[in-house]
Amino acid sequence: KNILILNGPNLNLLGVREKSIYGAQDFDSYFSTLKNNYESVELSYFQSNTEGFIIDKLHEVGFEYDGIVLNAGAYTHTSVAIADAIAAINTPVVEVHISNVHTREEFRHHSYLSKNCVGVICGFGLDSYRLGVEALLAR
Ligand code: DQA
Repeated sequence: KNILILNGPNLNLLGVREKSIYGAQDFDSYFSTLKNNYESVELSYFQSNTEGFIIDKLHEVGFEYDGIVLNAGAYTHTSVAIADAIAAINTPVVEVHISNVHTREEFRHHSYLSKNCVGVICGFGLDSYRLGVEALLAR
């Protein structure tokens, strides 16, 4: 099985950025540990700070891969274009967030993406990504 973890803006700064919210671990080290948990799954990872590149990636893998775990960062709360891209592709997408967005500012409570995703996981720190992968594998 092919599963892509797709990270949006500012998530390249994990481990540096707002550690009290997002933790002290950088994503590359988390990802290499996670990857080792799965033998029969081809787990890949892509990050971009640019909305269009995230959409391009969804198009690129979205007719081919078995699942996508998407943390679109702040685009979650703003992007009709990413929502449309998720609707356009065949691959199931799980929306994930590191923080529990519902305990945070009001503007983080709404997601344009959720209705086009198979499910949403938030609030479990970096473990949200593993839970997203597990959710895809369990379907
Ligand atoms: C986030 C939550 C978003 O509101 C925020 O803009 C992010 C990260 C999370 O993983 O908790 O960049 O998606």
